[in-house]
Amino acid sequence: MNGVSGRMGYRQHLVRSILAIRDQGGIELPDGSKVTVRPLLVGRSEAKLAEIAAQHGIDDWTTDLDSALADSRWEIYADFLVTKARAAALRKAIAAGKAIYTEKPTAETVEEALELARLAAEAGVKTGVVHDKLYLPGLQKLKRLIDSGFFGRILSVRGEFGYWVFEGDWQVAQRPSWNYRAEDGGGIIVDMFPHWNYVLENLFGEVKSVYAHASIHIPERWDEKGERYDATAEDAAYGVFELEGGVVAQINSSWTTRVDRGELVEFHVDGTHGSAVVGLHKAKIQHRNATPKPVWNPDLEDSHDYDADWQPVPANDVFLNGFRQQWEEYLTSYALGTDYAFDLLAGARGVQLAQAGLESSRSGAKVALDPLSL
Ligand SMILES: NC(=O)c1ccc[n+]([C@@H]2O[C@H](COP(=O)([O-])OP(=O)(O)OC[C@H]3O[C@@H](n4cnc5c(N)ncnc54)[C@H](O)[C@@H]3O)[C@@H](O)[C@H]2O)c1
Repeated sequence: MNGVSGRMGYRQHLVRSILAIRDQGGIELPDGSKVTVRPLLVGRSEAKLAEIAAQHGIDDWTTDLDSALADSRWEIYADFLVTKARAAALRKAIAAGKAIYTEKPTAETVEEALELARLAAEAGVKTGVVHDKLYLPGLQKLKRLIDSGFFGRILSVRGEFGYWVFEGDWQVAQRPSWNYRAEDGGGIIVDMFPHWNYVLENLFGEVKSVYAHASIHIPERWDEKGERYDATAEDAAYGVFELEGGVVAQINSSWTTRVDRGELVEFHVDGTHGSAVVGLHKAKIQHRNATPKPVWNPDLEDSHDYDADWQPVPANDVFLNGFRQQWEEYLTSYALGTDYAFDLLAGARGVQLAQAGLESSRSGAKVALDPLSL
């Protein structure tokens, strides 16, 4: 597990996924046998690794990635490094014949992401890329609504993602400063469009084209040491995505907006027979039979309670932490040798959408996406 001292590596992948799986005694396979996990922590700081290892009863850690990759006891290489450092590490791990599990984006350019997918296919190693948003309770409820036929024909999707990320001067920023420097692999498009790609393609249809407008709304920020720096990567992106089958998705991604929503991400889906608004956890619906008939009249204050027209969708299930749920599926697929859809090629499509979004923002034109293949 490389990069376990980072935000995602520590909390989501180590503590909430791998250690949770270890502590429950592994994952049960269909034949009743168990896959167990034993993490090896990899990083640059011996002291940080030793501290994490001691805190969680982990026996193995190292600052020597090459030796770890050369050691056949460790079967899977998992990567949670800053985006910029990822491709080189993945390349090494694939060359060493390790199975791969990695955060998104898998690389900084689509060429490199596709090359990694090709190298992995040639080496015959199983690969997995984080698709965590699909496992959010709200999105799982949405999937259920789609599968039940609730929407009729889906027309459009409107997504709002974001919150205010402090500049770092008078209040410490709540995201790492590299996110705001293009030269360090930052930017909200590279960060969020890979998520939007797998959310859209798995729920509504493959993305055929994108128009995006990226902005650096806050041009100067203060880093972890309190030092001022120029923000060179966009902190907001306004995107329109055309999907296979004609659905239109429009998603705002912003670290420069103040939340007036139920949750930090929300999708509003309109279909001929019904609509839904889903967030991280919650989901609510409005059926065509319960749709009010507003009449536009700006001269009169509208007394209708539009919020009351929506009905909550119950969970009817226990949803695990999404990162853990995906880890369990990946490890099961690894143990059984079955196909795994959320692989490096899926990851490359995410990078492709991010790259096309940036290109669209630079040129001002809508950019078509060609299907990617190995
Ligand atoms: N799936 C999600 O929802 C989600 C959310 C946030 C971030 N991410 C992704 O996770 C990755 C890590 O993001 P984070 O927010 O945890 O970042 P972070 O800065 O908190 O952690 C990054 C890790 O990489 C290590 N690192 C930094 N520079 C390095 C270098 N040059 N060489 C080797 N290691 C280096 C750090 O020591 C740290 O362990 C990014 O690729 C990001 O896009 C995913």
